[in-house]
Amino acid sequence: MTSPTTTSLELSQSFRQQIDAALERFVVFDSDCPSTLREAIAYSLLAPGKRLRPQLVLMANQVCGGDIEAALPAAVAVEMIHAYSLVHDDLPAMDDDDLRRGRPTCHNKFDEATAILVGDALQARAFEVLATEVSPPAVAARCCAELAAAAGASALVGGQADDLSSQFFQARDEQHAVEQLELIHRRKTGALFRVSLRLGAIIAGAGEDQLAALDAYGENLGLAFQVTDDLLDVAGSENNVGKRLGKDNERGKTTYPAVLGIDNSRQRAADLIVGACEAIESFGEAAAPLRDLARFVGRRNK
Ligand code: IPE
Ligand code: IPE
Ligand code: MG
Ligand code: MG
Ligand code: MG
Repeated sequence: MTSPTTTSLELSQSFRQQIDAALERFVVFDSDCPSTLREAIAYSLLAPGKRLRPQLVLMANQVCGGDIEAALPAAVAVEMIHAYSLVHDDLPAMDDDDLRRGRPTCHNKFDEATAILVGDALQARAFEVLATEVSPPAVAARCCAELAAAAGASALVGGQADDLSSQFFQARDEQHAVEQLELIHRRKTGALFRVSLRLGAIIAGAGEDQLAALDAYGENLGLAFQVTDDLLDVAGSENNVGKRLGKDNERGKTTYPAVLGIDNSRQRAADLIVGACEAIESFGEAAAPLRDLARFVGRRNK
């Protein structure tokens, strides 16, 4: 049966309160943390983002029969990595943006050195939360290793590096351009989506078949998410999106609309969402929240 929320552009607020309360609980530092740094960390982490990645942790945990209280620290950890990546992504040396989540970017509100240090601190805190709050220790260690790989040089950071040099990239033909583009998008954005699902599932004690289904869902969803991010940059509304638009073209970024055009990019996003939903058919009706989230990503305006 199709859920009534599937045609809505609104993201369900499922788990939102628990996620926000947990973020506040885990973003506490002792008196050795300087007050401006503490303020800047909270400013960036608690700003009104969509909280998609922590929702994916909890939804994957739930669909695999877990107890979401046990998965909350992992939800916090992935949002910390995400928030750090946004603070650094906005820096003058990277995308040089002044608006994020409808507010001045961290380096604009504070200063550039503080924004760099906010990212450093959030990244360290993410692993501290996972290592100390997930149990048993072997599961915590596995979660740390998986998140480190997804956030690391061969995934998120590597994708960001290639994204920044993509304006110098010369494609042989359209197929080659799409391959290069997907390689960037899968690492800079897709890897964190995929690992969010994996952490939730691992904490629930999921089997290999369940992990494989969630991997396939996450790969399709993560790529679709960046395609729609690229589309919003050319055809979105700044008020809804909460960031400056038109920046990708200005900076010569390799994006889906730049390579394939707007209509083909929309079609690609829609196909990826169908692929994501098909990948989790084996979970049956229990996967309705994951399907709703995927449909939101395909149609989102923010
Ligand atoms: C923005 O992610 C960065 C990308 C990977 C494109 P989101 O659009 O999920 O950002 P928030 O968390 O809602 O602000
Ligand atoms: C950001 O991609 C990806 C990461 C932060 C890892 P974008 O540069 O397209 O994200 P926005 O558009 O600034 O949110
Ligand atoms: Mg960027
Ligand atoms: Mg950016
Ligand atoms: Mg973007």
